[in-house]
Amino acid sequence: MENLTIIDHPLVKRDLTLLRDKKTPNHQFRAVLRRTASLMAYEVTRDLVVKRSSIRTPLERTAGYTIGQPIVLVPILRAGLGLVGGFVEVLPDARVGHIGLYRNEETLRPVDYYFKVPRNLGKALVLVLDPMLATGGSGAAAIEYLKSRGARSIRLVSLVAAPEGVKTVMGAHPDVKVYTCSLDRALNKKGYILPGLGDAGDRMFGTE
Ligand code: PRP
Ligand code: URA
Repeated sequence: MENLTIIDHPLVKRDLTLLRDKKTPNHQFRAVLRRTASLMAYEVTRDLVVKRSSIRTPLERTAGYTIGQPIVLVPILRAGLGLVGGFVEVLPDARVGHIGLYRNEETLRPVDYYFKVPRNLGKALVLVLDPMLATGGSGAAAIEYLKSRGARSIRLVSLVAAPEGVKTVMGAHPDVKVYTCSLDRALNKKGYILPGLGDAGDRMFGTE
């Protein structure tokens, strides 16, 4: 799958192990997720266009570089919030929008409750952040909304994905690149990723 990138760096594998482990307490889960997000940001931005500039070191003139495209981060609430800190650490100029969605427990369909995104999405690279890509309903709905607001260059960044979710998002949005640290085995009857890491929002915020 050409539009799917698996981020399998050794440091990410180590961190994902900690995040999967049910013994990992909430405070450590949050800290490790933030650290992992910075590692993910490194891979997701690997092919960004840079603008050349000219600067002076204390000794002489040399070439410098800036990022050539505005970046907009859009976490899907709640769990996507856990990835924002790590991304802004390496993308300090990024603007941040928010999309509030939760899954109806019976239908597994996303229910929306909040939208706030920056203007001029058309010129930006928009990175949708959500640790879990399960059925793909939330990711696909978020992308649909961002397109309706003018976004043209969108990437979906997840920590763990189920094959069903990747298929759904790519089927609905073949122009969107999907990044994940692991393509897991399957979904269970309740729409949870196997082996997964449980409910990411609950593990972050201690609401389980
Ligand atoms: C989780 C997760 C994703 C969604 C993924 O959110 O953070 O947004 O489920 O599932 P899907 O691919 O089947 O749509 P949840 O509904 O648990 O809300 P929360 O983050 O507020 O806990
Ligand atoms: N949402 C989660 O937080 N975890 C899953 O496994 C599936 C959806």
